[in-house]
Amino acid sequence: MVDFLNGAKRTKMCGEFRASNIGSRVTVMGFVAKYRNLGNLMFIDVRDRTGIVQVAFDDNVDKAVFEKATTVRNEFVVCASGVVRSRGGNVNANMATGEIEILADDLKILSEAETTPFVIAENAKVGETLRLKYRYLDLRRPSLQNILVTRDKVTRLLRNYLSDNGFLEIETPFLGKSTPEGARDYLVPSRIHHGEFYALPQSPQIYKQLLMIAGMDRYYQIARCFRDEDLRANRQPEFSQVDLEMSYVENSEDVMEIAEGAIKKVFTECCGLSFDKPFRRIPYEEAMRRWGSDKPDTRYDLEIHDLADAVKGSGFSVFENALAAGGSVRGINAKGLCKSMTRKDVDACADYAKSCGAKGLAYAMLKEDGSVTSSFFKFLSEDQIKEVCEALDAEKGDVIFVVADASYMTTVTTLGSLRCYLAEKYSLYDKSVFDFLWVVDFPLLEYSEEEGRYVAVHHPFTAAKPEDVPLLDTDPLKVRSNAYDIVINGQEAGGGSIRIHDPRMQEKIFGLLGLTEEEIEAKFGFFVEAFRYGAPPHGGLAFGLDRLVMIVCGTDNIKDVIAFPKVQNASCLMTGAPSGVDGKQLDELAIICKRDDE
Ligand code: AMO
Ligand code: AMP
Repeated sequence: MVDFLNGAKRTKMCGEFRASNIGSRVTVMGFVAKYRNLGNLMFIDVRDRTGIVQVAFDDNVDKAVFEKATTVRNEFVVCASGVVRSRGGNVNANMATGEIEILADDLKILSEAETTPFVIAENAKVGETLRLKYRYLDLRRPSLQNILVTRDKVTRLLRNYLSDNGFLEIETPFLGKSTPEGARDYLVPSRIHHGEFYALPQSPQIYKQLLMIAGMDRYYQIARCFRDEDLRANRQPEFSQVDLEMSYVENSEDVMEIAEGAIKKVFTECCGLSFDKPFRRIPYEEAMRRWGSDKPDTRYDLEIHDLADAVKGSGFSVFENALAAGGSVRGINAKGLCKSMTRKDVDACADYAKSCGAKGLAYAMLKEDGSVTSSFFKFLSEDQIKEVCEALDAEKGDVIFVVADASYMTTVTTLGSLRCYLAEKYSLYDKSVFDFLWVVDFPLLEYSEEEGRYVAVHHPFTAAKPEDVPLLDTDPLKVRSNAYDIVINGQEAGGGSIRIHDPRMQEKIFGLLGLTEEEIEAKFGFFVEAFRYGAPPHGGLAFGLDRLVMIVCGTDNIKDVIAFPKVQNASCLMTGAPSGVDGKQLDELAIICKRDDE
C-alpha cells in the first residue's frame, strides 16, 4: 500500500536547502537516489530536478518511521518531513546541500518502484537503445534534466527578446499544404477527402509571409517542423525553429541585426560571453574558397590554398589533368601534426577524402629531422616543392594534403571536410571558445543534374540582390541572393532571407525553377494571388532551436536536447512509433497499404 500526500506541502525543492535553513521544519518530496542502512541510523538521498538532499532516520526518534524507511528502495517516490540540521563534521563539499541533512520524523511512500532496467547514474555504462526505450528513466539523470532546464531558458530568453522588439507570437497550422524546403513531406491522409493529404509543415514559411501581407508586421513562433530526410547527428525528423518574419525591410542587415541581438542575448545569459562587435560577415564565395564549406568553423586554421601556380607544368598527370579540365589543385597544411600522425593515419585521411568524393589525396609528411615522406614530391621540381611549401606556409613538423579534381567544388568541399576531420581527431581547437559568423551572398540558384533544372539554394521565395537582378535573364547561376545563414562553431544555427514581394518577380522565379503556369497555379496560386493585394517588403529568419541548445550545452548529439527524440530510422524506441493501424482506420481513410514485406 502506498501513502497519499494527505495535504502535505513541499517546503522547498531538494537542491535548494542550505545552512541558513538549519533549525526549520520542512517537507521534501522526490525519488530515492540512494539509501544506506547503518542499523539504527538510515540515510536516504532524495532527488528532484534541482538536486539531492540527504534525509536521516534515527530509530531513537520514531521506531515506526525508521522501520518504514528501511523498506525504501531506489527510485521509490517519497515525502519526508523533519527538521534541518547541520551535518557537523560530515559536510559533503561536492553537494550544494552538503552542509545539512533533514532529520525526519515522518515518511510517506508515495510510489514504489521495481528495479529499473538500468541504474540512474551519470556514468552507468548503458547502451543508447535501452536508454531510449526507457527515456523517462534516462531523463531522471541530472545532466539530461539540466539540458532541458537550459532549453527552457533559451526559449524564454528568445520569447522575451522578440516580444521586447515588437514581435507577436502567432501559431500557424500543422495541417497544411506542402511548403518546399527541399526535404520530403510527412503526409496526413484526409478522412473526409479521400485520396487527399495534408502536409505537415517543413517550416511555417508561407504562413509567415502571409502574416506580413495580413499586416501583422512582426511575427515569431517556436514552430515544430517536420522533414522526412535522412537523419544525422544534428538532424531530427521533427525539430523546432524559432521562426521570425518582419515587415518593411529590404536589406539583409535589417534582419541580421535583430537576429544577432537574439543570439548575443542567449550566449550572454547562458554562457557568460560578452560581445563588443558585430559578428563577421563572410560571403559564400569566400567561405567555400578558404574553408570549403558554407558553414565554416574558424576556431582552427587549416585554410585551403590554391596550388595551381605552384604545380603548373609538373608533368604529374593527376594535377595536370585536373588543371587542364578547368579544375583545381588545392591543399591544406596540418601544422605541427607530423609527430602525431603515422602513415596509417595519413592513409585514413586518404580514405576519408575519397568518401567525400575526391579521387585521391596527395600528402607530404615533413618530418622534424628534415626527411620527407610524400606521395607527390617525386613528381615536382625542387622549385615547385618550395613553392608548394611557401603557398601552404609549410615547414618541418607539418603534414600537407593536396586534392586535385576537375571540379573546383569537389576539391574545396573535400578539403573542407578533411580540415574538420583533422580538427576533431587531433583536438585542434579549444572547446570553450565560440565562433559566431554570418555567411552571406549565397547564390540564388544552383543546377540540379539529377532533376535537370535550376533549384533554389534557400527556397523559392528568396529575393535576389537588386544589383544582380539583370543576371536572371542572362546568367542565372551568377545571381546572388539576399540570404544569410548564422553559423556557430561550424554548425548552421539558423538561416533566412529577404523575400520577394512582387508577384511578377515571384512568378519569374517559379518559371526559372521549371514550374509551368499550371503548376504555379496548383501549388502556389493562393500565395501569388495574395501578393496582388498589397504586400509590405519583408524578410525573416529561422533559428534551429535544437541546434542552438546543443551549442549552448556543448553536446554534439541532437537527441540530448529533445525530451523524446527519434533514432536514425525515424522511429521512437519508447512508443514504437511508427506502427500499424487497424483496418477500420485505413478503411475510413480509403487507404490500402502495400507493405515492404508483402
Ligand atoms: P532552413 O531550412 O535553413 O530555413 O531551417 C532553419 C534552421 O532550422 C534548423 N534545421 C534543423 N534542425 C534539426 N533537424 C533538422 N532536420 C533541421 N533542418 C533544419 C537549422 C536551420 O538553419 N523557412 C526557412 C527560414 C527562413 O527563410 O526564414 C527555413 O526553414 O538550424
Ligand atoms: P599514383 O601516381 O597513382 O601513385 O598517385 C600518387 C599520389 O597521388 C597518391 O598518393 C594518390 O593518392 C594521389 N592522388 C591520386 N588522385 C589524386 C587526386 N585527384 N588528388 C590528389 N591526389 C591524388
